[in-house]
Amino acid sequence: MDFKGLYEKKRIMINNYLDDIIKVENAPDVIVSAMKYSLFAGGKRIRPVLSLSVCEGLGGNPERVLPLACCIELIHTYSLIHDDLPSMDNDDMRRGKPTNHKVYGEAIAVLAGDALLNYAYEFILKTISDNNFESKYTLAGQIIGKAAGSTGMIGGQVIDIQNEGKNMSLEELIHMHSKKTGALIEAACAIGGIVADKMDKLDDIKDYSHNLGIAFQIVDDILDCTGDANKLGKKTGRDEARGKSTFVKILGVNESRKLAIEYSNRALNLANMIDKTGFLGEFTEFLLNREN
Ligand code: IPE
Ligand code: IPE
Ligand code: MG
Ligand code: MG
Ligand code: MG
Repeated sequence: MDFKGLYEKKRIMINNYLDDIIKVENAPDVIVSAMKYSLFAGGKRIRPVLSLSVCEGLGGNPERVLPLACCIELIHTYSLIHDDLPSMDNDDMRRGKPTNHKVYGEAIAVLAGDALLNYAYEFILKTISDNNFESKYTLAGQIIGKAAGSTGMIGGQVIDIQNEGKNMSLEELIHMHSKKTGALIEAACAIGGIVADKMDKLDDIKDYSHNLGIAFQIVDDILDCTGDANKLGKKTGRDEARGKSTFVKILGVNESRKLAIEYSNRALNLANMIDKTGFLGEFTEFLLNREN
């Protein structure tokens, strides 16, 4: 199967699994509706695809990592709902649809994010228990928690918000990106290796995913400046409007693109060491050249 077909197959596997597990009972209709609204608005699913691909590339069974991979997507979706709130980036469009708070109001949007986050940890614990408390699942759950928290993604979001209207150095910016976007991408890749029982590959996986995470956020910054809002599914020009420090602001579009290629190439070399099937390498290139 070609790259596009393989990617689509993984996306379908993830979407079906998310659809299965999100059947929340005994909750008010509006919260279930708000959770599903953002979860099924059409994300690229790159984090769970990375988990499945690293696991498979190292000879593991991707179905074994699927539950935890989907928990990362729940956490990612909550982070987007909150990122779009008026008190944060104040955005109106996400994944091609009005943002959660535009449809459900701010209070329900905050709670929908909280509910997705809580459900992720409920489901991580269920997965650990379903696997007879095997230590690798506990370790994977712990890695996800650390990556999503104040030393990882939330820490990065704090740096982002605190630096609105300020000039950050390139070094500070890379540090922020490695947290706000890199941390969850790194965790997604790490759990693939852990579930595949390839602890000896964790250093390579860390190097790969660190470089990929930075490249990914540089491309996000470039697309905010030069992208097509219809393809992106979110409005453009938002970073400049909010006085965000971005790669484009510091380096300009051309130099930012060169830097994204540099990070992506470093990731690419490592991808081919982790995954001999070639999918991870192609996925790395796809993420560099994406239009959404
Ligand atoms: C958007 O993430 C936020 C960033 C971390 C740059 P994605 O580009 O993965 O968004 P979806 O999940 O496809 O909507
Ligand atoms: C968001 O970064 C990273 C998160 C942790 C959600 P951005 O604020 O750049 O993401 P977009 O551009 O709104 O998707
Ligand atoms: Mg933001
Ligand atoms: Mg944003
Ligand atoms: Mg952005």
